[in-house]
Amino acid sequence: PTITYIDPDGVKHEIDAHVGATVMDTAVKNGVPGVVAECGGFLSCASCHVHVDDAWIDKVGRAEDSDDEVECELLDGAMAERTPGSRLSCQITVTDELDGLLVRVAPEQF
Ligand code: FES
Repeated sequence: PTITYIDPDGVKHEIDAHVGATVMDTAVKNGVPGVVAECGGFLSCASCHVHVDDAWIDKVGRAEDSDDEVECELLDGAMAERTPGSRLSCQITVTDELDGLLVRVAPEQF
């Protein structure tokens, strides 16, 4: 599946992602700027914040629909403003259904 990231400078990165990886891992491995992911995907840093495109957020799922409240708490404390499409990218697993996914990397992570 292809995931398109728009980095904080507005540069587009189209990445061929692996099913089962996370949107965060995929960005880090492919050098997409702006995804800091300080905690390495353990849901404790909020520095992997992305804004999922409006057209995709229902398919990806909203942070508030997760059973785990930690993601919402972290997003509320995130540096960049939380939007309805805000997710922590380490919590989004790549699937074939997400082929074409568009995310914007949050402008600030700290
Ligand atoms: Fe730390 Fe996602 S990498 S919360």
